[in-house]
Amino acid sequence: MIECTAVQKSVVRWHYDLSTVFYRMLWGPHIHHGLWQNAEHAQRLESPGKAQVQLTETLADLAGVSEQTKLADIGCGMGGSSIHLARTRHCRATGVTISPLQRRWAATIAMLKGVRSRTQFICADAEEIAFDHASFDVVWSIECTEHLFDKPAFFRKAYDWLKPGGRMAICAWLAGENLDNADKEQQVYDVCEGFFCPSLGSAEDYIGWMRDAGMQITGWHDWTRRVERTWDVCEQRVRRTGVRWLAKAIDQDTVMFLDRFRTLRDAYTTGAMQYGCFVAEKPTL
Ligand SMILES: C[S@@+](CC[C@H](N)C(=O)[O-])C[C@H]1O[C@@H](n2cnc3c(N)ncnc32)[C@H](O)[C@@H]1O
Repeated sequence: MIECTAVQKSVVRWHYDLSTVFYRMLWGPHIHHGLWQNAEHAQRLESPGKAQVQLTETLADLAGVSEQTKLADIGCGMGGSSIHLARTRHCRATGVTISPLQRRWAATIAMLKGVRSRTQFICADAEEIAFDHASFDVVWSIECTEHLFDKPAFFRKAYDWLKPGGRMAICAWLAGENLDNADKEQQVYDVCEGFFCPSLGSAEDYIGWMRDAGMQITGWHDWTRRVERTWDVCEQRVRRTGVRWLAKAIDQDTVMFLDRFRTLRDAYTTGAMQYGCFVAEKPTL
C-alpha cells in the first residue's frame, strides 16, 4: 500500500463539493471510469457515455443486482449507480456521500427520473456511519474506498451490514503489484496527492482486507486495459473546454487534480497502477 499523509478528509469533502459541476460537465452523471469492450480495436470503440454505463452494468451482473436487492452505494457521487440501478433493475438503493452538494444533487435527479421512492441519499462519512446489522443484500462502492483512511475497518463494517449470502461489489484504483522502482512509487504517490487519496492498496491488499473481514472472494478482475482510455478522453476534454483556466481562477487543488490526469494515465501504462473489480460473498452460515 502507498500512503500520502498530506491528504485530509475535509479536503476530500471540499473537492467533491467544488468539483461535482466540473465532473458533470466533463464526464457525465457517473464519476467513474468507462469500461470499453473493444479497447484494443480503435475503429469500434463505444462512446465514453456507453462505456461508463457498461462498467455499472457489468458490476451489477457480477453482483447479481435484481428487483429484490437492497443496495448500499458507498461514495455515491451524483447518485449515478443508485439511480441507474433503481430505474433499470428496480432495486432499492441507499447512497452515501461525504459531500452535502452531491446528496442534494442525487436526490433531485432521483426525483426527476421518477425513482424517489426506491432511493435515498445520505450525507455522511462512510467511515463513521452506522447501518443495522444484516440490512443490505449488496454493499456497492465504485471508486470511493481510495478516499478512506482505514480501509480494513471499512470492510469489517460492510461485512456486518450484509445479510448472509450478501455481496460486496467494489471497483478501485490500485497500486500496482510490482512497484520495483522509486519512479513507480512516486507515480502512485502523485496520484494519491492529486486525487485526494490517503492511500492506494494493491489487489492483494483488497483481497486480504475482504477475506480478513470474513468475505469469500468470488471474483477479481484486472480491468486496467479496458478503462485507461478514460484519461485520454478527459485530457482532450480539458483542453477543448478550457476548464483549467476556470479552475485556476477558483482553486489551486483543482488545478493540481486536472494536471494529474496524465500522471494517472502513465501510471496505468507503466504498471505502477491497476484498476480492479472485486466481488465477494458473505457466507450463509
Ligand atoms: C470518484 S467518486 C465516485 C462516485 C460514484 N461512486 C460514481 O461512480 O459515480 C468518489 C465518491 O466518494 C465519496 N467519498 C469520498 N470519501 C468519502 C467518505 N469518507 N464517506 C462517504 N463518501 C465519500 C465522494 O463524495 C464521491 O461521491
